[in-house]
Amino acid sequence: MIKSCVIGLSKIGQIHCSNLKKIKKTKLSYVYDKNQNLRKKISQKYKCSTENNFNKILKDKSIKLFVIASPTTTHEYYLKKLIAHKKMIYCEKPISLNAEKINLLERKIKFNKINICIGLNRRYTDAYVQMKKVLKKRRVKLIQIISRSSNSDVCQSVRNGGLFMDKGFHFFDLANWYANSTPKKIIAMAESISRKKFLLRNDYSDSVINMKFNNNTVVEFIFSRTSKLGHEERIKLFGDNFLLDSDKFFNKKILYKNYDIKHKNSYLKCLKEFISKEKSILLSEGIQAQKICDLVLKSARKNK
Ligand SMILES: NC(=O)c1ccc[n+]([C@@H]2O[C@H](COP(=O)([O-])OP(=O)(O)OC[C@H]3O[C@@H](n4cnc5c(N)ncnc54)[C@H](O)[C@@H]3O)[C@@H](O)[C@H]2O)c1
Repeated sequence: MIKSCVIGLSKIGQIHCSNLKKIKKTKLSYVYDKNQNLRKKISQKYKCSTENNFNKILKDKSIKLFVIASPTTTHEYYLKKLIAHKKMIYCEKPISLNAEKINLLERKIKFNKINICIGLNRRYTDAYVQMKKVLKKRRVKLIQIISRSSNSDVCQSVRNGGLFMDKGFHFFDLANWYANSTPKKIIAMAESISRKKFLLRNDYSDSVINMKFNNNTVVEFIFSRTSKLGHEERIKLFGDNFLLDSDKFFNKKILYKNYDIKHKNSYLKCLKEFISKEKSILLSEGIQAQKICDLVLKSARKNK
């Protein structure tokens, strides 16, 4: 039995709590949040322990697995502690806010032989897995990805690294996955057209990004923090004599109000795979996505 603790108990953290309860090999032993009322409430809900001081949980040698679901601003802090204590780590995306420190972090993870999974759960969404299967070995020449959110919060976006890290991370990774390649050229244009509040916090609400990949696949992203149609997320893959459209792979009868409804099962599948393998998964993919976020941000700033 792998005893575990979830750090950060808002929507995403609570999804992980519920999933750890469902996995036979894991026991949710602790939850931790800096908000005292929340950690008490959630520990009662999931019938597990909590502590006022995180270091007390860390010192319990029986707790092997930690899920980091606190804001991205705190990831580096928890990663360093957990690496030093040689824990198994599931880290929500993005890995940290600082792409320049990512290589050092990777070296520490590898040197200490840490089992880590970066939460690129979109790769486990049934519809996207199905698209990958149908695609087989065919080469994608053009990818179009649209993501518009219906209820985004500017403070949350900023805490989680802004438009490209918070929203873009999954989509940059999916583009790498479907194209079987990585970008060699990136042009990003970003504004705060739909939500002025983003401008005030030095973040963007809208962006158009074009990339050319090393295998010459061209990718076009449209991101927005506004959508009147619920959570709008669509991926189209074009190649010689084929088009795969994600809208045909999702259940059309459901109006997905938000991403966590659309991708509900993917969180459990990703965590389950990590736990069953008990070795690192999605680390290099996460690092790649993180570096792309950084390049996109630089391009957006340059093209202002
Ligand atoms: N995989 C996905 O699809 C997905 C979706 C949304 C968010 N995320 C990621 O999950 C993480 C959490 O995002 P969120 O939007 O739920 O964050 P959030 O800002 O809503 O906060 C998460 C929780 O962490 C708590 N917290 C804040 N500082 C803390 C600290 N120092 N120690 C412990 N707890 C602390 C807060 O009280 C809150 O309850 C982020 O890294 C985000 O990018 C992933």
